[in-house]
Amino acid sequence: MPKLIIDDITVEVAEGVTVLEAAQSVDIPIPHFCWHPALGKAGACRVCAVKLLDGPIKGIQMSCMLPAQDGMVVSTVDPEAVAMRQQVIEWLMINHPHDCPVCDEGGQCQLQDYTIACGHGLRRYDGKKRTHLNQDLGPNIEHEMNRCIQCYRCARFYQEFAGGTDFGVMGSASRVYFGRFEDGELQSPFSGNLVDICPTGVFTDKTARFRARYWDFDMAPSICPECSLGCNTTPVARYRELLKISARHNDAVNGWFICDRGRFADKKVNSFDRPRVPLVNGSSSGWGDAVDAVAKKAAEFAPGSIAVVASSRLANEGAALLPDLARALSGAKLCFFSNEVICRASITAASQITPHMAASLDDVASADCIVIYECDLRQEAPMMLLAVRQAWRKGAPVFLVGKGAPLEQAAAVSVEAVDLDIIVEAPIGIFDRPVIIFSTMRSSAAEIKNLMAAEAKFAPLFDGPNGMGMAKLAAANSTISLESAVKSGLIKGIITIECVIADELRGEIPIIAALDWQMNSSVKNAGVFLPTTAWVEMNGTFVNNEGRAQQFKKVMAPGIPVSATLESGHPPRIHSLDVPGGEPKPAWEVITEIMKRL
Ligand code: FES
Repeated sequence: MPKLIIDDITVEVAEGVTVLEAAQSVDIPIPHFCWHPALGKAGACRVCAVKLLDGPIKGIQMSCMLPAQDGMVVSTVDPEAVAMRQQVIEWLMINHPHDCPVCDEGGQCQLQDYTIACGHGLRRYDGKKRTHLNQDLGPNIEHEMNRCIQCYRCARFYQEFAGGTDFGVMGSASRVYFGRFEDGELQSPFSGNLVDICPTGVFTDKTARFRARYWDFDMAPSICPECSLGCNTTPVARYRELLKISARHNDAVNGWFICDRGRFADKKVNSFDRPRVPLVNGSSSGWGDAVDAVAKKAAEFAPGSIAVVASSRLANEGAALLPDLARALSGAKLCFFSNEVICRASITAASQITPHMAASLDDVASADCIVIYECDLRQEAPMMLLAVRQAWRKGAPVFLVGKGAPLEQAAAVSVEAVDLDIIVEAPIGIFDRPVIIFSTMRSSAAEIKNLMAAEAKFAPLFDGPNGMGMAKLAAANSTISLESAVKSGLIKGIITIECVIADELRGEIPIIAALDWQMNSSVKNAGVFLPTTAWVEMNGTFVNNEGRAQQFKKVMAPGIPVSATLESGHPPRIHSLDVPGGEPKPAWEVITEIMKRL
């Protein structure tokens, strides 16, 4: 392990670690643009200069390109290194439009921070600035090429890391352009990461353009609810409106990135038709009366004739109370899943998998063989596809097994995969770290049992952010699916909790009450509706597909976005302690209130 001295601090690091990373490990910051922990080094920006005073190498060096060696004596504050970094920043800023006041990156911009940190405040070059035309990259990403400092992070991420082919770098002479051959929406399912990875404001989130500055944001650590992988996110809100979502770093789960579905499919929370007040028989009501109405209506049903059904959108805090709610409803049938096949498959996967057998996204990225069994990761878990690409880049073969695993998913991340009809054709046994990915929405319990007999790690996919948590609770409480409960003929009324049930499944059975934060058929048909908070409006826990319980924190208070309450362009001029549309409560709180009444 090389031992070196950086600014008088002795540092010991693993073989291959760069001087930049060695300095970061002891909290010595070195400016950097092109280096990124997920992408590694490029040596493009030259702003990470340090001076080596003694040891095997001497003089000014780029710290991101230099592996740490025994005996190195490094200074990040030597006047020569400081002057070099100052000059580099000055060159980088020569063509920059200096448009921080109208740039959405302002306040969270690496270029802005390092420009100030390196002391550059005066433009000495009085030549004309080089300018570019911007492209329309679709509804999600704004392009402003004049802010580019040619760090190549965007092209390296898009092409190398994510396997995208419709975006890259083009150039001639001193003009280097990062974009597409022509205007058009970016095709990669991971294109939104350009916003996070760009150290300046070339790529910004178009959906939240000009809405708020970094210091205005309401934000908190959260978990993506769009699939069962549990990617770590940071949602951002202002004035009761969810503005945007960015990736939150977690090496064991999503690394530094998230998919476009998780990033951009967030606006249901702000939806104008979102139900926000309790309703009894379609008319608005106070909380007390609505909860009383649930208790009163439930009392009209014989013991054992009500089904309580939830979905994997529900966080653990609410889900864990459901067995008590079912008991309080005189032995209601408890259903954590609606569909019988999905219910059996989910319970089988959740009960068979052990922590030792479960593959995290990081395990998938470092596997030496990948089998994707009867599922399309573009639909069911896009970030899993990104992890598969990282394994493939390191040499792992990728096998797509069955008709339910289309080749197009591999093409979406430029992975060359082998198409197989049956799993026994995949030579899993000859590899040391194989991973089998399968879906509890596409495979039966019997198939899953067979699959899990293989010598491999497994990445099961569930039907929602808390699918694994619900399956564990379903197994622990010996529950059945709504489908079997209805088939038994005993069910005469249903209470849905953050769950949509198909009309064909329900038939003529009335919905006594619906607890939800989204407008759907269960809400529309319910005798009593009780509004719950969305995941960004509460604290809670989801258990992801590998069995990892992860907390999400409250980002914003529930309420109608201020932008929707404007009176002639101005927020209401009457002050009130009551937040318009602020009635929703976390599902666990609503369930507790119902139990108290019962
Ligand atoms: Fe070292 Fe860019 S960070 S050259």
